[in-house]
Amino acid sequence: MAMDRYTSDNLANWNDRVPIHASPDGYGIDAFASDPERLSIVVAFDRKYLGDVSGRTLLHTQCHIGTDTLSWAKLGAQVTGVDFSPRALDVARDLAERIGVNARFIESEIYAAPASLSETFDIVYTGVGAINWLPDIARWAEVMAAFTRRGGTFYMREGHPVLWSLDLERDDDLLSITEPYFERREPSTWDVPQTYSGSGTLKHPTSHSWNHGLGEILTALIGAGFRIDLFEEHRFLEWPALPHMIETEGRWVLPDDQRGMVPLMYSISATRL
Ligand SMILES: C[S@@+](CC[C@H](N)C(=O)[O-])C[C@H]1O[C@@H](n2cnc3c(N)ncnc32)[C@H](O)[C@@H]1O
Repeated sequence: MAMDRYTSDNLANWNDRVPIHASPDGYGIDAFASDPERLSIVVAFDRKYLGDVSGRTLLHTQCHIGTDTLSWAKLGAQVTGVDFSPRALDVARDLAERIGVNARFIESEIYAAPASLSETFDIVYTGVGAINWLPDIARWAEVMAAFTRRGGTFYMREGHPVLWSLDLERDDDLLSITEPYFERREPSTWDVPQTYSGSGTLKHPTSHSWNHGLGEILTALIGAGFRIDLFEEHRFLEWPALPHMIETEGRWVLPDDQRGMVPLMYSISATRL
């Protein structure tokens, strides 16, 4: 697949993260594999938004090593995961086998995915560090719409664009806006040799990300053929984006004097018209 420089840098960076996330101090895949009741912390929160998924077809875009995808499978969904990282999908397939669930994982860059997967799904699910790697939110929304059957549900939970506009590299506790809030053609480029879960050094530390404003995201989804049913903002994160965040029950929040000052995540649920 021909890839631009930004996408190929991101792919090398994400492939490097996989063994670290799959290691014992990473995503906790051994505990996830050995306990059939155990869900990822992400899906444990999101399941109330999707209700009973048993028997429903579910596509998880940017599925990474499959812990969220396979949590939906544990809840009875017929799952398909898509990601551009072959190393992530190797871990996901191995995990599916260990758990003993049926799951399909497809390797594709997300904008190219409709060319290799011409199906629609009851549920399309994504988020928690997904769309910030993508340059064009309107084109992404078209892909989400192409995969959602008419009357089907699209649900995402993501890092808030206000979070992504903050300076995340400071080592004090000031909330300071240094990054663009709205989508721009050129990405923000990072050289960070660590990842957010597990310890180890990335051989390819360079990554590129894009912010997308809330209005741009909602407008893109509406324009692609969705009706927005729910939009909620959250005060927690599933990773310590800022060094002074506090861990509480596996999630990360700002300290008391900053709690509620800025939104950290949001959920969107939508119906494909
Ligand atoms: C933080 S993970 C999100 C998944 C999930 N929240 C998790 O933590 O397991 C981001 C995923 O996006 C994938 N990704 C990034 N850019 C992509 C692209 N252009 N096409 C397909 N996958 C992409 C990466 O390989 C990675 O697995």
